[in-house]
Amino acid sequence: MTDLHCIILAAGKGTRMKSDKPKVMAPLAGIPLVKHVVTACESLGPKTIVTVIADGMDDVAKAVAPHKMAIQQKQLGTGDAAKAAMPALKGTKGHILILLGDVPLVTHPTLEALVEAARETGLAMLAMDIADPTGYGRVLTEDNFVTEIIEEKDASPEQKSVTLVNAGIFCADAKKLEGWLNALKPENAQKEYYLTDIVKIAAKDGIKCEYVEGPEHELRGINSRSQLAEAEGELQNFLRARALHEGATLLDPMTTYFSMDTQLGRDVVVEPNVFFGPGVTVADNATIHAFSHLEGVKIGEGASVGPFARIRPHSEIGAGATIGNFVEVNRSTVKAGAKSKHVSYLGDATIGEKSNIGAGTVIANYDGFNKQETTIGKGVFIGSNSTVVAPLTVGDGAYIGAGSTVTTNVPADALAVARSRSVVRDGWAETYRTKKQTEKEKK
Ligand code: UD1
Ligand code: CA
Repeated sequence: MTDLHCIILAAGKGTRMKSDKPKVMAPLAGIPLVKHVVTACESLGPKTIVTVIADGMDDVAKAVAPHKMAIQQKQLGTGDAAKAAMPALKGTKGHILILLGDVPLVTHPTLEALVEAARETGLAMLAMDIADPTGYGRVLTEDNFVTEIIEEKDASPEQKSVTLVNAGIFCADAKKLEGWLNALKPENAQKEYYLTDIVKIAAKDGIKCEYVEGPEHELRGINSRSQLAEAEGELQNFLRARALHEGATLLDPMTTYFSMDTQLGRDVVVEPNVFFGPGVTVADNATIHAFSHLEGVKIGEGASVGPFARIRPHSEIGAGATIGNFVEVNRSTVKAGAKSKHVSYLGDATIGEKSNIGAGTVIANYDGFNKQETTIGKGVFIGSNSTVVAPLTVGDGAYIGAGSTVTTNVPADALAVARSRSVVRDGWAETYRTKKQTEKEKK
């Protein structure tokens, strides 16, 4: 839709969250609220997306990049915030869609229906009919058009009983919107410029506001932490259902935590209590055993991960590879068929095909200042309790003896041992015991 422009309002203080961070950065299924809104906008293919932020909201600016931003100097209400975006949209034609950074789950079809309605009338909004309207602006209608939106704080008891509420998302004719915003006045209980008042202003222009109803699970606003938790719960249930539908087995679905972008292949098995942070893809037939914590990793076909594995971002686990219990993988690639089955740390490393990393292996990738890389070739065998001090290369087929601390490169097919020799003294223990016993008896 090249004649469509989006504004996302995200400059609010989010007082009700009782947080030092901007509300729109609160994560929902691993992704900041505002980023969900950006993704929904992108799905419409608009010409511009402008996010309105307050001065100093650098995290929000980063989250919405590379799209445009506008600064709202003082948080004087949603109408004032929309006005702050107008300089970035000077002279635009077509339609402007205004979204709220704290209404994150709105979907493409619902937004499309809203834009369609606005194309017909010049102004449209999203509404929902809900059992408990507390906190939302109530929508008053006549002949199926909106006549007025009354905020909770301005509503009479009778108006408060209205269950049709404002989802906060509007779409308006681009040529008219700026004039309507300029006509807003802060004449209400909160002394704010309410975006919702454009409905009455447009009516004076002869433009009636249409409303499109959407489902509560898409249009709920998030003002408090309990609303955030509720939305998270619903979204997790949706993501669990989606994974099951797409052919993954979740042994105990309620204990699997997903991120919005988690992708599970067919016949993937996920055991209880698994956390998928952002950026995880699991190929067909892989198994994620219980209590594993995964972020930013591509897991290959038929691989086995966990129980109790931790995989951190920028990692890749090859087809048929095994990452066992208490193994941490960080910014590392473990190639096809390689195994690290017990209690190890693999950081900034590449582990070649079919290599075997013994229990207790640590790749020492940090010297206190810099992270260094380690390359381990194919078919390498690293004995238990070894420390590989980066930067280092271990050639294909090499062996490292158990308990070694290796600080120099190991050529292909070589053996590296770096530990003191074991010594055996026949009969030593018996002599020792006899001596000590005699000493004790003499006292
Ligand atoms: C708003 C609507 C209400 C609707 C509800 C839906 C108005 C006046 N009220 O109320 O009718 O039912 O959303 O969830 O529009 N923001 C700014 N600058 C500001 C104020 C707010 O950018 O000066 C941003 C916030 O960051 C937030 C969004 O606008 O993302 C909504 O603001 P919020 O204060 O949460 O509005 P509600 O009281 O929920
Ligand atoms: Ca809100």
